[in-house]
Amino acid sequence: MTLLTPDRAGGRPSPGTDPAPGLAPLTTELGILFGGDYNPEQWDPAVWREDVRLMRQAGVNLVTVGVFSWSRYEPQPGVRDFAWMDEVLDLLHAHGIAVDLATPTASPPPWLGNLHPETLPVDADGVRLGWGSRNQFSPASRVYREHALAITRDLVERYAEHPAVRMWHVGNEFGQVCHGEESAVAFRGWLRERYGSLTALNEAWGTSVWSQHYGRWEEITPPRRAPYHLNPTQVLDFRRYSSDALRSLFREQRDLIREIDPVRPVTTNFMGFFALVDYWSWAEDLDVVADDAYPDPTDPHAASTSALTHDLMRSLGRGRPWVLMEQAAGAVSWRPHNLTKSPGRSRLESLQAVARGADAICFFQWRAATKGPERFHSAMLPHAGPETRAHQGVRRLGADLARLRPVVGSRVGARVAILFDWPSWWASQGEALPTDRLDALAQLRSWYRPLWEDGVAVDVARPGQDLSGYDVVLAPQLYLLTEPAADTLREHVARGGTLVLGPFGGVADESAHVRTGRFPALLRDVVGVSGEEWVPLPDDGAEVVWAAAAPGRPGSFRAEVLGELLRSEGAEVLASFRGGHLDGAPAITRHRRPGSGAAWYVGTVPPQDALADVVRQALAEAGVEGAAPAVRLPGVEVVRRGDALFVLNHGRGTVRVRVEDLLPGSSVPPRHPGSEVVDLLTGLPPAAGEVVLAADDAVVLIERNS
Ligand code: GLA
Repeated sequence: MTLLTPDRAGGRPSPGTDPAPGLAPLTTELGILFGGDYNPEQWDPAVWREDVRLMRQAGVNLVTVGVFSWSRYEPQPGVRDFAWMDEVLDLLHAHGIAVDLATPTASPPPWLGNLHPETLPVDADGVRLGWGSRNQFSPASRVYREHALAITRDLVERYAEHPAVRMWHVGNEFGQVCHGEESAVAFRGWLRERYGSLTALNEAWGTSVWSQHYGRWEEITPPRRAPYHLNPTQVLDFRRYSSDALRSLFREQRDLIREIDPVRPVTTNFMGFFALVDYWSWAEDLDVVADDAYPDPTDPHAASTSALTHDLMRSLGRGRPWVLMEQAAGAVSWRPHNLTKSPGRSRLESLQAVARGADAICFFQWRAATKGPERFHSAMLPHAGPETRAHQGVRRLGADLARLRPVVGSRVGARVAILFDWPSWWASQGEALPTDRLDALAQLRSWYRPLWEDGVAVDVARPGQDLSGYDVVLAPQLYLLTEPAADTLREHVARGGTLVLGPFGGVADESAHVRTGRFPALLRDVVGVSGEEWVPLPDDGAEVVWAAAAPGRPGSFRAEVLGELLRSEGAEVLASFRGGHLDGAPAITRHRRPGSGAAWYVGTVPPQDALADVVRQALAEAGVEGAAPAVRLPGVEVVRRGDALFVLNHGRGTVRVRVEDLLPGSSVPPRHPGSEVVDLLTGLPPAAGEVVLAADDAVVLIERNS
């Protein structure tokens, strides 16, 4: 089969795409990777044999093993028992199943906490957490780190040459925070590096407020329970430190692995927009980006929320294919009330990840546990065995993924970037701001939603990164904005790009100090508008009136959460407040200067429809379209990945779409002999030139030369 390479809108690689091999050595050989976490230590060896047989039947070609095996490898300090893992790896290899072997460091054995209580984490109330669960370590603990490295060294030395092992997985879901004494020492070391002197720290932390001046390093602690609001910069720096502390844990295990095995890729599993770790700072450290995705089945916007998270993962890896390391086949067991999903929904969610750049689709976990806290968590193989709806669904998915081999390694191209920054998120989550209702993540998601609805490809970008190559940059929430990041936005507009800046942007510097003068301080000339007051709005919002009528659009809307007392300094006022404290003030503006692009400013939180209107207008004026502009159906997601066009029906009803609307210029039956459009999932052309998609169904169309 020869694939054509139609360079349709969105078909070119994203700017900055990284050519590093990443997953390619595995996927070139195995196709899309499919499997899950496998915990053989919970089962008898007789069950292992059944497992590998059933795995093969399901098309599983990759499992992650050993994530929580530390106490099995090292039942007493210094003792080693790897014999059982030898057998597991041999068995998997004999059945052609590749292994992502984990360092077992996420869950130390009870003896470590018992012998060395200082390895246990302490919370902000000073409570030391115990063992009997998992994750009970302080990232700063020297003793924990020594033991973690010792078991990692022995594990990697033993298995680096094992033919089953194709990838290394460090720890699990890094996210521990410790406020204890050893962490205080490490935090001070981190602060010395950052500030060099106590004078600089006192300045950055604004300790002239409330008599907080520090005269000795020893006086500085992690934020702990205190009578009233904590110092916002201390809190922000502790979040930075905590993310860096986990990163150094990851890196020391990774470096040890690389020293012994310089070839196989090393990863760890991220958790989407996880609040405790700045994944931008980690992204370069991983050979392959991997994510755990557990969309909330009660979230009406789960599909676009997942799409955004997948786009983040692809962007963290600079466009490289990534691994969906964990998801649930049905229900999880860690929410209070665990709604399940059908096999069809699970398949759709998996195909969505592939559409957005994943080359590996894995689950937590292979076989459902019968004991321990996760015994009611769904699995690829349920308690009731293989002759179940859920397991048959897993087999179907395995077969589908095998058919998607032609998409392996291909890229998603985007002309739009949406900015997201962890330190700004952290700072905006602090206490004592004008409002606690301006949620950075909620803002990001609502700005993203119209793009998802329209099939517009988007990369998530880190403020300050090179933006050349993007036509449109959306910045929904940049409370904390550094000068270099502001410069990239200025350059983007100067180059002719479009910028859309959201409310309460550029307010603070990297120390979370408010910038003086009219806001947005660093971008005032770019947006051509400036403000003097941030104005939290009452519960029923405030009226905003559009300056011009637009077909189908109401003349006004009620803005929510926050407004700003703005005045235009050259920008066109597209909508303004009417009545109340902000009467007459601009709410939405657009600044166009000869030779430059357009800089839009949205100085409030419009309801979703009005926001979508602004985003769509900005894209239209920049000439950016979706993957299939003629197709806009509620719940239908269209994504181009390389030569393939994914059409995914997240809605509740059947939809019908003409192939010509999806692939303009193509025709069914084919216009040219020997060239046809086929659905990779069925291997067949869509009947009668039309794609008919039931709820939860999908097609993956390509044009094929036979
Ligand atoms: C996380 C963990 C897994 C498991 C699942 C359950 O993703 O990494 O070990 O606990 O959650 O959903």
